[in-house]
Amino acid sequence: MLPKMEFKSVGVIGAGNIGTGVVTDLVLHGISAVVVDISDEVLRRAQVEVLKNVRAVPLLSKTLPRITKDEGLSRMVLTTDLKDVSSCDFIIENVTENWEIKKQVYGNLEHLMPPEICFGANTSCISITQIGSATKRPANVVGIHLMNPVYLKPTVEVIRGFHTSDQTIKILLQLFSRLSKEAIVVEDLPGFVSNRISHLFMNEAVFVLQDQVATAEKIDAIFKKCFGHKMGPLETADLIGLDTVMRSLDVLYESFQDSKYRCCPLLRKMVYAGHLGRKTGKGFYVYPEV
Ligand SMILES: NC(=O)c1ccc[n+]([C@@H]2O[C@H](COP(=O)([O-])OP(=O)(O)OC[C@H]3O[C@@H](n4cnc5c(N)ncnc54)[C@H](O)[C@@H]3O)[C@@H](O)[C@H]2O)c1
Repeated sequence: MLPKMEFKSVGVIGAGNIGTGVVTDLVLHGISAVVVDISDEVLRRAQVEVLKNVRAVPLLSKTLPRITKDEGLSRMVLTTDLKDVSSCDFIIENVTENWEIKKQVYGNLEHLMPPEICFGANTSCISITQIGSATKRPANVVGIHLMNPVYLKPTVEVIRGFHTSDQTIKILLQLFSRLSKEAIVVEDLPGFVSNRISHLFMNEAVFVLQDQVATAEKIDAIFKKCFGHKMGPLETADLIGLDTVMRSLDVLYESFQDSKYRCCPLLRKMVYAGHLGRKTGKGFYVYPEV
């Protein structure tokens, strides 16, 4: 039987959209995070965002634990040096959805971390078996597909790579139990369950907009009012980040060699224009607060 893990500190690699949500969730639940990114500017932004989230918790949720700003600050170490995660009990990787970037990060982690430490790969579409192949411990690599905003979502998709061991899954489930999250464990193929399906309808919604069949508001309203979805496909794409959606479609296209995943030209154009959705204040909608 697996002993109870303590999770004194978790290494969070990548402090963007999802990484910031992961850090918020960890610090709220009393777990310290060593947060790594490539720029001090991103780390500073992430810290401000985490403290804002922690302050907003009473407004957002009746069940999330309340903590003070000082408690929040004391549970975060910000660094651009990957070596600083070497004494962490678990790694959650959330770097850019790009195989070459992820491969390099896992290669570096392999040298830094004791062999028994598990790596949770947070990816939208990249195969967990492929990520495992970038390490010498594929049995300790497991896929985590967290949804945004991480700290408000009670459920997470967990992906078992070809070599992922039962013990690694159990360790991850212990971590999610600390974070009060239910895990749904699925097998590994690119995009898993959630994104293999959802990216098709987000991409098709952009084609519908490009073809001027309806405005963004009308497209989303049909999903919300007719299908009862909480958010429409274009609002969802804005929340995820249009760059991440584009990269995920590229991974799906490349992985399945299937034209149904070809990225809509309008989506690519918006990414090149720097309209990435909520995180830049403009996407299919405008977010004046950003
Ligand atoms: N956005 C979502 O809703 C969502 C949901 C589930 C999973 N994901 C996945 O999570 C991962 C991160 O997505 P995101 O939306 O947060 O992207 P993002 O672009 O907002 O953040 C990625 C971060 O990684 C950092 N980074 C890049 N190279 C690095 C390196 N070598 N070391 C450390 N940090 C590095 C970048 O500076 C950036 O801050 C992706 O794989 C994505 O597919 C995203």
